[in-house]
Amino acid sequence: MTRLTIAVTLLALAATCSARTHSAGNLFLHARDVDEQYDYIVVGGGTAGLTVADRLTEDGETTVLVVEYGELSALTTRLGSDDSIKTVTGGFAGISDPSHLFTIQSLPQTNLANRTIAVVAGKVVGGSSAVNAMMTIRGTVDDYTRWGQFFHDDDDDESSHWSWDGLLPYFKRALTFAPPGEAVTKEAGITFDTAFWGTAGNDTDGTTPVYAGWPSFQYPGTTAQIEAFRGIDGVPFVNDSGAGEAGVYWYPTFMDPTLVERSYARTGHHDRAANRENYHLVTGSRVLRVVFDGTTATGVAVVPVSPEDGDEATETIVGVRKEVIIAAGGIHSPQVLQLSGIGPRELLESAGITTLVDLPGVGQNFQDHPILRPAFTYNNFPIHPNPQDLILDANFSAWTDTLWNTNRTGPKSLATGNAAAWLPFPIISPRALNLSDALTTQNHSLSLPPNTHPTVLAGYRAQMLSLASALASNGTAFYNLILTGGATNGIVVDLHPLSRGTVNINTTDPFHTSPVVDYRALSNPLDVAIMADLIRFTRRYHLSNPLTADWNATEVSPGEATQTDEEFETYFAESISPSEYHPSGTCAMLPRELGGVVDEELKVYGLEGVRVVDASVFPTLVGGNTCQPVYAVAEKAADLIRFGPPEGYERA
Ligand SMILES: Cc1cc2nc3c(=O)[nH]c(=O)nc-3n(C[C@H](O)[C@H](O)[C@H](O)COP(=O)(O)OP(=O)(O)OC[C@H]3O[C@@H](n4cnc5c(N)ncnc54)[C@H](O)[C@@H]3O)c2cc1C
Ligand SMILES: *[C@@H]1O[C@H](CO)[C@@H](O)[C@H](O)[C@H]1NC(C)=O
Ligand SMILES: *[C@@H]1O[C@H](CO)[C@@H](O)[C@H](O)[C@H]1NC(C)=O
Ligand SMILES: *[C@@H]1O[C@H](CO)[C@@H](O)[C@H](O)[C@H]1NC(C)=O
Ligand SMILES: *[C@@H]1O[C@H](CO)[C@@H](O)[C@H](O)[C@H]1NC(C)=O
Ligand SMILES: *[C@@H]1O[C@H](CO)[C@@H](O)[C@H](O)[C@H]1NC(C)=O
Ligand SMILES: *[C@@H]1O[C@H](CO)[C@@H](O)[C@H](O)[C@H]1NC(C)=O
Ligand SMILES: *[C@@H]1O[C@H](CO)[C@@H](O)[C@H](O)[C@H]1NC(C)=O
Ligand SMILES: *[C@@H]1O[C@H](CO)[C@@H](O)[C@H](O)[C@H]1NC(C)=O
Ligand SMILES: *[C@@H]1O[C@H](CO)[C@@H](O)[C@H](O)[C@H]1NC(C)=O
Ligand SMILES: *[C@@H]1O[C@H](CO)[C@@H](O)[C@H](O)[C@H]1NC(C)=O
Repeated sequence: MTRLTIAVTLLALAATCSARTHSAGNLFLHARDVDEQYDYIVVGGGTAGLTVADRLTEDGETTVLVVEYGELSALTTRLGSDDSIKTVTGGFAGISDPSHLFTIQSLPQTNLANRTIAVVAGKVVGGSSAVNAMMTIRGTVDDYTRWGQFFHDDDDDESSHWSWDGLLPYFKRALTFAPPGEAVTKEAGITFDTAFWGTAGNDTDGTTPVYAGWPSFQYPGTTAQIEAFRGIDGVPFVNDSGAGEAGVYWYPTFMDPTLVERSYARTGHHDRAANRENYHLVTGSRVLRVVFDGTTATGVAVVPVSPEDGDEATETIVGVRKEVIIAAGGIHSPQVLQLSGIGPRELLESAGITTLVDLPGVGQNFQDHPILRPAFTYNNFPIHPNPQDLILDANFSAWTDTLWNTNRTGPKSLATGNAAAWLPFPIISPRALNLSDALTTQNHSLSLPPNTHPTVLAGYRAQMLSLASALASNGTAFYNLILTGGATNGIVVDLHPLSRGTVNINTTDPFHTSPVVDYRALSNPLDVAIMADLIRFTRRYHLSNPLTADWNATEVSPGEATQTDEEFETYFAESISPSEYHPSGTCAMLPRELGGVVDEELKVYGLEGVRVVDASVFPTLVGGNTCQPVYAVAEKAADLIRFGPPEGYERA
């Protein structure tokens, strides 16, 4: 979109939406037009950034500027034209418009037959919440206990406010739970428990933040595929996805239940804040670096993403009174820090950047969820309607269109589905204890790049010891199988990969290039053993389970010739993706002696007035998709910024 069309769009909005006539007054297309100074500057108007900016401006006084690389898309209403973002059907319309995504390819992956991997992240107001698949997941209690324990080596769960109990109020504040309709709840056997969720309409101004909604239809095969887990001993069934337990369960969709459209950080936070005079947003603008007086942040340097003639070299410095909050996501937050002189000294020197703080962890500890794609097809799946009928049964397909076109109900209200298995390793694998022992005793430095800083290695070792206990416990989910309701299986996800990658600036031309992303997939050899067991369990579910036997599955991939760990290694090299689009860990919340970048208040070590708030602070991935955890972390961060740490946790 050109500047001109954006300006016209804004004028049109101002003219047509009387309730929002004011909003164009605090939306800017160029940093030279914004105020000289703000209380807070938020770098990145994505999932976390918009959440924090909304909360900080609720008082009507605190001034906040959000600087966003992407653009503000047309309003997400039925009147708008922003179909790729608002469409829920199928779950993946959001990535169909390339102008809403960064285009980055990873380094060739040596353990994946030198394949490069597309690094997918949102580049639009709303960030990745505007383009994601809308699965609304939390992970388990232990995922959050683990975060706090890296700071406190006793086993007392209460010793850190980074814990399940410390996050639960923020999970509740982050989302508005809109329960599934009575008919579909009964028909599909959906269970849920509102005790784990926040309630609609409870914000002081009567508006609601992001919705956790539900479609009005489920394929009956989904319920059958859930029930089929009863054919395997020990599989837990969990009543609600928000309970923090591993098991098989139903979960909601980030969806506005009335509009039946995506609900995301733009609709839930930007649109709430847009009529506040103290909230400003500048789009099409990139924060190059944070500006300092000594080690105290005084502002940011901003450049236009698509410079007009004469703009090329124009860098605008915007001043900050209190703090810069970096929320550019797992791929770009480490880039902003490194370009600001905060990162591993050797890297910065080779890029010609003066080191302000030698912080070896910035851009290290990179994690994402690997996707495995085994393929099973049922030769005799008798349950109809199912997703295949959309193609095979013209009558069903016509009915589907009628429901959608008249009332926005029926199968087209489904995104990627609402049920999956999230299972702990002892239930998946007969050698859980062996692999746990192997992870404890392995030489951890062999899995990291040579010359890794000792503090980063110490942090990796701490993570591996924690995950070794998790492998032997029923409290952490390692296995995820998405249920489809149809005659083919969904993807399998490794929820706790052991390999760690890097996201570093390109030292050749650091200010004008994308970050260099290296997943370092399968660099810890035990990932192969774990993933092999995930596939072996998937076989068990489909091929030796009395409750799926009648469906008569055929294993299409990897196929029965693949049996040993070595054979699986070859198969994975050709077939896995190291990314479920959940980049995390690159500005880890860990003690500095464990390679940490931010402390328990999310403040960057060695600096005054800089925090990081987004998925890059997760020290270890959670056993679930990352969007809901990002919202909860951002809600908690807003309270840390406004009120400091909770009582009893004053900084030592
Ligand atoms: C295709 C896809 C599918 C996904 N599916 C799911 C799902 O179904 N469920 C789920 O829970 N999670 C899903 N995720 C993951 C989830 O959406 C993300 O983990 C989460 O949104 C990340 O939030 P964030 O705040 O860390 O970053 P983002 O939301 O990505 O925000 C970062 C923002 O910073 C901006 N930015 C970057 N650099 C700069 C700079 N220098 N200056 C200014 N602005 C900058 C970006 O444009 C972006 O808007 C998916 C992600 C993708 C991409
Ligand atoms: C990957 O690339 C390296 C370096 O170019 C080469 O030595 C190796 O043979 C390649 N591996 C495969 C599987 O192609
Ligand atoms: C699930 O939780 C709801 C709400 O507390 C409760 O009514 C229901 O009985 C529970 N169902 C199961 C199977 O435990
Ligand atoms: C609204 O929130 C307040 C404070 O968190 C709580 O006490 C109250 O019960 C909530 N009301 C509803 C209707 O959920
Ligand atoms: C995990 O659950 C299974 C099935 O209930 C049980 O047999 C096993 O003992 C449990 N393992 C641990 C470590 O609790
Ligand atoms: C067409 O589909 C509808 C809805 O699934 C069903 O009620 C009806 O019986 C179908 N008609 C035929 C001819 O299959
Ligand atoms: C649409 O909703 C109305 C009101 O609930 C209902 O009467 C009508 O049958 C619905 N139409 C379709 C096609 O489902
Ligand atoms: C686990 O290790 C023990 C001892 O090393 C060995 O006897 C056993 O066969 C192993 N089990 C599996 C499933 O690999
Ligand atoms: C672990 O590997 C590193 C790197 O190769 C090596 O220097 C170190 O001696 C090894 N440690 C042990 C205990 O083998
Ligand atoms: C780094 O930037 C240079 C110059 O633009 C480019 O040629 C090179 O491909 C980049 N390297 C990587 C790994 O992206
Ligand atoms: C299962 O499907 C295969 C492939 O279509 C077929 O050859 C076989 O007879 C079927 N088995 C049963 C028990 O129906």
